[in-house]
Amino acid sequence: VKDPTSDMAIISRKGSQLVRKHREQKERKKVGAPGGTGCLVICDGKLRILQIGIQKTTIRRPEQKFAEHMKEKNEARSEFAKKKSLLEQRQYLPIFAVRQQLLNIIRDNNIVIVVGETGSGKTTQLTQYLHEDGYTSYGMVGCTQPRRVAAMSVAKRVSEEIGSNLGDEVGYAIRFEDCTSEKTLIKYMTDGILLRESLRESDLDHYSAVIMDEAHERSLNTDVLFGLLREVVSRRTDLKLIVTSATMDSDKFAAFFGNVPIFHIPGRTFPVDILFSKTPQEDYVEAAVKQALQIHLSGLMGDILIFMPGQEDIEIVERLEELENAPALAVLPIYSQLPSDLQAKIFQKAPDGVRKCIVATNIAETSLTVDGIMFVVDSGYCKLKVFNPRIGMDALQVFPISQANANQRSGRAGRTGPGQCYRLYTQSAYKNEMLTTTIPEIQRTNLANVVLLLKSLGVQDLLLFHFMDPPPEDNMLNSMYQLWILGALDNTGALTPTGRLMVEFPLDPALSKMLIVSCDMCCSADILIIVSMLSVPAIFYRPKGREEESDQVREKFSVPESDHLTYLNVYMQWKNNNYSSIWCNDHFIHTKAMRKVREVRSQLKDIMVQQKMNLVSCGSDWDIIRKCICAAYFHQAAKLKGIGEYVNVRTGMPCHLHPTSSLFGMGYTPDYIIYHELVMTTKEYMQCVTAVDGEWLAELGPMFYSVKQAGKSRQVSQADAARPHRVCAWRSAAWRRRCPWQSSSC
Ligand code: CDP
Ligand code: MG
Repeated sequence: VKDPTSDMAIISRKGSQLVRKHREQKERKKVGAPGGTGCLVICDGKLRILQIGIQKTTIRRPEQKFAEHMKEKNEARSEFAKKKSLLEQRQYLPIFAVRQQLLNIIRDNNIVIVVGETGSGKTTQLTQYLHEDGYTSYGMVGCTQPRRVAAMSVAKRVSEEIGSNLGDEVGYAIRFEDCTSEKTLIKYMTDGILLRESLRESDLDHYSAVIMDEAHERSLNTDVLFGLLREVVSRRTDLKLIVTSATMDSDKFAAFFGNVPIFHIPGRTFPVDILFSKTPQEDYVEAAVKQALQIHLSGLMGDILIFMPGQEDIEIVERLEELENAPALAVLPIYSQLPSDLQAKIFQKAPDGVRKCIVATNIAETSLTVDGIMFVVDSGYCKLKVFNPRIGMDALQVFPISQANANQRSGRAGRTGPGQCYRLYTQSAYKNEMLTTTIPEIQRTNLANVVLLLKSLGVQDLLLFHFMDPPPEDNMLNSMYQLWILGALDNTGALTPTGRLMVEFPLDPALSKMLIVSCDMCCSADILIIVSMLSVPAIFYRPKGREEESDQVREKFSVPESDHLTYLNVYMQWKNNNYSSIWCNDHFIHTKAMRKVREVRSQLKDIMVQQKMNLVSCGSDWDIIRKCICAAYFHQAAKLKGIGEYVNVRTGMPCHLHPTSSLFGMGYTPDYIIYHELVMTTKEYMQCVTAVDGEWLAELGPMFYSVKQAGKSRQVSQADAARPHRVCAWRSAAWRRRCPWQSSSC
C-alpha cells in the first residue's frame, strides 16, 4: 500500500498483529518493515498510520528489489561466477515467476496452502522469499521436513544460495544434531524437532513464519503439528503458517485450517510415457536390474532413477555396477541412513559420458529433487512403518505403493525434458489393487510418543484432540496401555512423574525408561552409553570380500550374554583407545557412527544433569545392567523353546536370534531373553538381545508374568498359549479394574 500523503512505502497488516510487531520493533530499536519504515494499521476499525522513525523511501518494484538484493549478495561473494549461476538457477524455477503474488497472499492471510510440483522451488525458495520480505526481522523462518536427509541437504543448498556458511544465517536441526547459531534466520528441521520445541515454547515465539513442508507425506509428527499449529495461529496473529504439498490433498488441508486459500505454483513439466509391465513380476529386484540395463544399453541419453522399497534392495541393485562391458554407469544409492557425504553425490553431475543411475527409496519421490532424470523405473513397492498387532509393535514392512506415489514417481522423469517411466506392475494392478493415497502414518503406527507429548502439553482427552484424520481409537488406547506398562501413565491415564521425565528425552519411551531406572539401579553412566549406541544406526560394517575377517574381529567384542553389553564393550574400548578413528577402521567399526554416539551421549547427559539425575557407573558388575535393561523391555521377552529357537513369552509367537547377535551360534542359549526390536525379513528376527533371569521378568513385569512351580523347577509364564481364556480373562478384568479408561477392545 502506498501512503497517499507521503512518498513512503508502507505495509498493511491487521489489528493487533501489527501493534505487536510495532512493539517488538520498538523494543529492538530497529525498524525493518519491508519496503519502508511506516505502517498502515487498521486499529479499532480505523485506518491509522504508525510512524516509526519515518524515513523516506522510494517504492521499488519487488522484482527490482529482489534482483538488487541478490546482486548485493552475489557481489559480496568471492566465487562470483559460481554464485551467478546459482542466481540464474533460482530465477529459472517455476516459483520465481509467481514470487510477488505468493508474498502478497501470505501478507494477507495467516495460513496459506502452497501447492506445486516437486522441483518447483517450494522448499529452497519459500524460506528465502520470506526472509527477503522482512519476516526474519522479528523471528526465524522455520521449515519442517519429514526426513532428516532433506532437512540437511536443503539447508546446505540454501546456505550456498544465500552465500553464508551452513549454521550461520541458514541452519538445520535434526534429532541429536543442531547446526544453528544465534545468527540463524532460516532454520530447516525435522517436524519432530518443531514438535519438541512446542513443548518448551507453546506459542513458538521465536518464529515469525513456519513452513510445514511436504505435508502430503502426512508423517506422524506433521499430523500432530497440524492440530497444534492450528491453535497457535489462532492465538498468535503475527505468525504465518504455510503448508506445502505436492498436489494431493490440498483441499483437505485448506478445509482443516478453516477454508484458507490455496496457492498453485504453475508447473513446468514435460510429458512422461508410462509403460506398464504386461505380466506381474515375480521378483522386482531382478526386473528392475533388467529394465535399467535395457535402458542403459539402448543408447538413449539421460539419467535413470530406480525406486526400490528399502535399503537392502538398494544394495542388491548395486550389482549393476559390477557389470562388465557396459558403457560407464555410475550407480548411486540414496536412502535415509546413508552417510551424508555419500548422499551429496546424487546431486553432483556425473563425468562426461557417464550415466547416473540413482537407486532410491521413496525419499526421492518428493523430498529430494535430482535434476536430469529421464527414466524412472518403479518397483511398485515401498516400506512403511505399521503397527503389527501380532508382535505388538511397529515394524517396517514392504507394501504396494498407492496411485498417488506411482504418479509422483513417474513425474520425476519429466522435469528437464520428456521422459519415460517403466512400472514393474500391470495396469490392472495400478487401477484395481492400489489405494488412491497412502494411509497416513498416524492411522497405522504406535502413538506412544505422541500420547506422551500431548499429555505433557496438557491435552487431557486425546480422543478429542483435533486431528485431521483421527487415529483409530484402538491404536490410541494400545499406545496408552504401553505407556501404562512402563509406568508413564497412572490408572486414570494421567502422566506420572516418570512419564513427565520421559518426555524430556528425545527417545522411544522404553529407552527413556531404561535411563530413568538406571539411576536407581546405580548404573546410569553405563546405560547412557548403551542407549546412545542404540540411537545410532549400524556401528559395524562388513565390507565385500572381507566378510569373514570382519566377523572375526567383531566376535572379539562379543559379550556372550548380551548384545547391549557388547555395545558397551565396544564403546569402552574405543574410549580406552582415545576415541581413535584408526582403531575404528582396524576393527570394522564406522568412525562416524561412533562419533555420533559420543555426541548423542553428551546431549543425553546434559538432559540428565539438567533433570538432576545421578550419573554413576556400576563398574564391572554387569548383571545389574542386564536387570536394568529388563526393567524397560520386559514386555519384549522370549523363552527358549528348542535349540536356538525362542518364542515370545506373551504371545507364543516363534522368533529367532539374528545372525549378527552375540548370542547366535555361541553354544550359550539362555532360557529367557529380552529384545530391543523385531525385524521381519524372511522370519521374525530379534535384534539386540540380552539374557535375563526369569524371576526378573516376574519382578519387573508383574502385569504380565508370574513365577509358577512346575514340578521341581520354577518357571516364568504368561501362558497365553496354554490357558488362553483364563489368562485373557484375568488380563482384561485386572486391566479394566486398574485402568478405568481402557476400552474392552484392548
Ligand atoms: O520443494 P520443491 O520440490 O518444490 O523444490 P526444491 O526442493 O526447492 O528444489 C528446487 C531446485 O533446487 C531443484 O530443482 C534443484 O535443482 C535444486 N536443489 C539442489 O540442487 N540441491 C538440493 N539439496 C535441493 C534443491
Ligand atoms: Mg520440497
